[in-house]
Amino acid sequence: MENTGEGVEIWKIHWRLSSMHKLFPRSVSLFFILVFMAFSTAHAEIRETSVWWLTRNVNMFGHAIDFIFYVILILTGVTFVGVFSVLAYFLVKYRARPGVPAIHSHGNNTLEVVWTTIPVFIFLGLAIYGNEEWSRMRRQTPPSDALPVAVVGEQFGWNVRYPGADGKLAKMDAKKVSKENPFGVDPADPAGLDDFTTYNDLVFPVNRPIRLYLGSKDVIHAFYVPEFRLYQDMVPGRVYDFVWLKAEATGKFQLACNQLCGQGHYKMFGKLSVVPVPEYESWAKGKAPGSAVTDASSVTPVVLNQR
Ligand code: CUA
Repeated sequence: MENTGEGVEIWKIHWRLSSMHKLFPRSVSLFFILVFMAFSTAHAEIRETSVWWLTRNVNMFGHAIDFIFYVILILTGVTFVGVFSVLAYFLVKYRARPGVPAIHSHGNNTLEVVWTTIPVFIFLGLAIYGNEEWSRMRRQTPPSDALPVAVVGEQFGWNVRYPGADGKLAKMDAKKVSKENPFGVDPADPAGLDDFTTYNDLVFPVNRPIRLYLGSKDVIHAFYVPEFRLYQDMVPGRVYDFVWLKAEATGKFQLACNQLCGQGHYKMFGKLSVVPVPEYESWAKGKAPGSAVTDASSVTPVVLNQR
């Protein structure tokens, strides 16, 4: 057929005329695309495990979250395969054929009751289990021996405040938060005199409950550590004192901001290490107490397009 030949000819001419082809042969373009992909993936996130599956879990609360994740994955997976197998089977079985009249179905009450009742119980079960676990994570009072750590997000970095030898943090008041006082602490509070601060640097002792005091200086940020299965938005104007965790394994992780908070959002991450208790203690001892309010000013935060 003439048409097909013409089509191929036109395509060849088009390819020859395309300037991209002259500049870069296909192999070179492909090479650059692959390099770009490899580079961007490497830059996206520091991960110790596969990017295709969950990170490992190191938080005591993470087991319940992973469990419900797998339960939902299996339930939806089985439903997906079941529904689409039946669909494919029916497509073939009831296809239009000459001489075979179509059957009109007006539904089946028993079937409808069954496929409504089963999901109702599945959803109720998931909701009750999820609610139960959520209360355990966020509505229970954190243990009294938990190490308090304050983390305040700002454009674009993390102010972190640790208690000194007294084990107590200065009280935080969202109303007192300002540029010079990211934690909103009362400089006269004696509990805060030995506190020390870091910037984008967190060290947590392993197997010890940690109670977080989360806040924000400017816009909404989010405390997110995938390995802790922990995510909490931080809306400016309040201090979140109900989030706690217990890391069950040591390792190096990343505290990433998970709310699009401005142009430097992609760079808003902190180093987070979980270390044995003695290592944490010697690290904390090596930190000089800051000024009563903050000493994070010695570190320059990431600032983009400063106006
Ligand atoms: Cu802070 Cu994104």
